[in-house]
Amino acid sequence: MGKTSRISGFYKLPIEERRKILKEFADLTDEEIQLLEKTGALDIEIADRMIENVVGTMPLPLGIATNFLINGKEYLIPMAIEETSVVAAASNAARFCRNGKGIISIATDSIMIGQVQVTRVRDPYGAKIEILSEKEKILDIANEKDPILVKLGGGAKDLEVRVIQAITGPMVIVHLLVDVKDAMGANAVNTMAEAVAPYIERITGGRVYLRIISNLADKRLVRSKVTIPKDVIGGEDVVDGIIEAYAFAAADPYRAATHNKGIMNGVDAVLIATGNDWRAVEAGAHAYAARFGKYEPLTVWEKDEKGDLIGTLEMPMPVGIIGGATKVHPVAKLSLKILGVKTAKELAEIIGAVGLAQNLAALRALATEGIQRGHMSLHAKNIAIMAGARGELIDIVAERMVREGKIRMDRAKEILEELKKKEST
Ligand code: MEV
Repeated sequence: MGKTSRISGFYKLPIEERRKILKEFADLTDEEIQLLEKTGALDIEIADRMIENVVGTMPLPLGIATNFLINGKEYLIPMAIEETSVVAAASNAARFCRNGKGIISIATDSIMIGQVQVTRVRDPYGAKIEILSEKEKILDIANEKDPILVKLGGGAKDLEVRVIQAITGPMVIVHLLVDVKDAMGANAVNTMAEAVAPYIERITGGRVYLRIISNLADKRLVRSKVTIPKDVIGGEDVVDGIIEAYAFAAADPYRAATHNKGIMNGVDAVLIATGNDWRAVEAGAHAYAARFGKYEPLTVWEKDEKGDLIGTLEMPMPVGIIGGATKVHPVAKLSLKILGVKTAKELAEIIGAVGLAQNLAALRALATEGIQRGHMSLHAKNIAIMAGARGELIDIVAERMVREGKIRMDRAKEILEELKKKEST
């Protein structure tokens, strides 16, 4: 009989059994299974409670970005990422940003949007008024679901109602605006959206289908700003190059996507290190970038009357410091301790600053020497490791490949052979 992925009750099996099935299915060797058995900071028992069907854990490098001065406070920033140069670039750019207060960053209150989709309403505009006139009652129903959040000063605060024209007809879309305080908020918002739905159906006579958070968190923004004297960044031509790079992104979505990818290199790395939902922030970032109907960069670069460079960033930043992986994953807890953050707002402010610095690093490199030189030395080390180099041989092989301008697996193997031969003679 051939292989099948139809496995009933995989989730109920002990981890060992799941690994056995996987070993057979994918023809894994004992050594490969041992990779899954290796536990790092994330205990397999904790991992098994975080998601379903766990067979192992997937470690990522955790680096520390240095030099960050944000709102006058010093930060060392944990970043979890697989890509070379990102941590170095962030640290380097943060150094340019240190004059005065460093990067200034302000986050709004933690307002998230819960959407309730009301269909089959005969008089959608009339229903809109009916819903708005029942606002207090609807907010009360929502807030009954989370008395602790309400006690902390959060909870459902307001309602917005929109009528949209969908391909299936008009829909009344209710937005429940919830202050989720220090949480990312998906659980609180989804629970509230589900709780208010029956009452909204009763008022409107419509049929509610979806009740879910919106990841276009445009009421939970971070705004960051930095001013860099032109001499610090490398002179007038570098300032102009960075502004031209921004202008390119502002005019061309093909470039804007890469520009924003560079910002997300920094943003995602901190999100992952702190156990936050980086997919939510990614989705929100790109939807926000396209909110005017054209995909745009999330940062702006200008110069002031002295010719100094000014960079600003504005994007949704729905992050939490309580709940989810932030409180379960030991490395996420540690990352939050390293940052010393006391509120989700402060975390959002840090991440905005990292995104801005990351973008500065990329644009400065792109507008001057290009990014490949910086990338190459770490890339060469990776190739050397893949070719089998260990210990001090990694650096020796990598340096030779960079010097020769031949950063390839076949060359790494050749150099390694040569060095081993020399050693044995
Ligand atoms: C690479 O991960 C990110 C960059 O491409 C960003 C950019 O082009 O602005 C360097």
